[in-house]
Amino acid sequence: MRIKNVFVIGAGFMGSGIVENVAAKGLPVAVYDVNVLSLMKCEANIKKRIENQVFREKISEEEGEEILNRISYVHELEECREYDLVIEAATENKDLKVSILQDVEKYVGIDAIIATNTSSISITALAAKLRRPERFLGLHFFSPVPKMRLLELVKGYQTGEEVLEQGQKFAHFLGKKYVTSNDEAGFIVNRMLLPMLNQAVVLVERHVSTIEEIDMAAKLGMNHPMGPLELLDMIGLDVELAVMETIHRETGDSRYRPSVSLRRMVDAGYLGRKTGVGFYIYDEEGNKTPNIELQNRL
Ligand SMILES: NC(=O)c1ccc[n+]([C@@H]2O[C@H](COP(=O)([O-])OP(=O)(O)OC[C@H]3O[C@@H](n4cnc5c(N)ncnc54)[C@H](O)[C@@H]3O)[C@@H](O)[C@H]2O)c1
Repeated sequence: MRIKNVFVIGAGFMGSGIVENVAAKGLPVAVYDVNVLSLMKCEANIKKRIENQVFREKISEEEGEEILNRISYVHELEECREYDLVIEAATENKDLKVSILQDVEKYVGIDAIIATNTSSISITALAAKLRRPERFLGLHFFSPVPKMRLLELVKGYQTGEEVLEQGQKFAHFLGKKYVTSNDEAGFIVNRMLLPMLNQAVVLVERHVSTIEEIDMAAKLGMNHPMGPLELLDMIGLDVELAVMETIHRETGDSRYRPSVSLRRMVDAGYLGRKTGVGFYIYDEEGNKTPNIELQNRL
């Protein structure tokens, strides 16, 4: 693999998972965020997760230290100039991503690969705003990144073959399987998953069952490791709303039209785990109880 170091933009839920995964596999990785607080939280969370692995004797203390030492937390985007692969994992907003990617292109070398972790925005449309669209691809990770075994490689119309090949090698290096997707709204996984998540919200809205029972139905009846409402809380309701809106706009398919309650929850700041309130309420340790008040209100 030609990629010898990685720069991640966005130190949120996904960015911090990508950083941890890359560092654990042995490559130097830097992470940048416009929000200093996000960067601090990312550092604290990664440290906690690594220390936990040491405590559970999954890795030695020395290995834990080596992983942490491979990570730099940086305050300037320009620092990406030294990196072979830049992965943008900032907020799901097209204009924001275009502006970040155009800045990145100004700094990095011509051989660098630029990737986005977008869940739904067209890779071709983002690439069209860049000077070197052939060096750009989608690397769509799944949460929690260190544990999930899949990476979706998304080809824009102009993504170069060599870039795609490097993406495949990178997936392999991270210990993941990859699937390759053409540039369709929602790619493969979200295209299949989102109608189900949307319908789970509708089931709560229509008082068909309780939050816990809807999740239990998916776990025991479909053998899913998590219920759809737990999953929405983990992914972040703001992220899912943005993704559904993009797929709905692109396809016109009503199965992707976000339910009104999902919008209201995002308006209220009930974003799931990241704000401590979603379909469940989370305490400091991450233990959850169903949000009964919400269930009765919908
Ligand atoms: N949440 C998921 O499960 C999931 C899964 C796959 C892909 N994604 C995608 O990953 C991306 C990030 O999602 P997330 O869940 O980590 O969101 P998040 O809200 O946890 O984190 C987003 C981060 O981006 C930062 N940011 C905003 N503007 C920035 C800028 N100009 N420069 C640098 N950083 C900036 C924010 O400060 C924040 O820390 C989105 O595109 C999302 O669609 C999310």
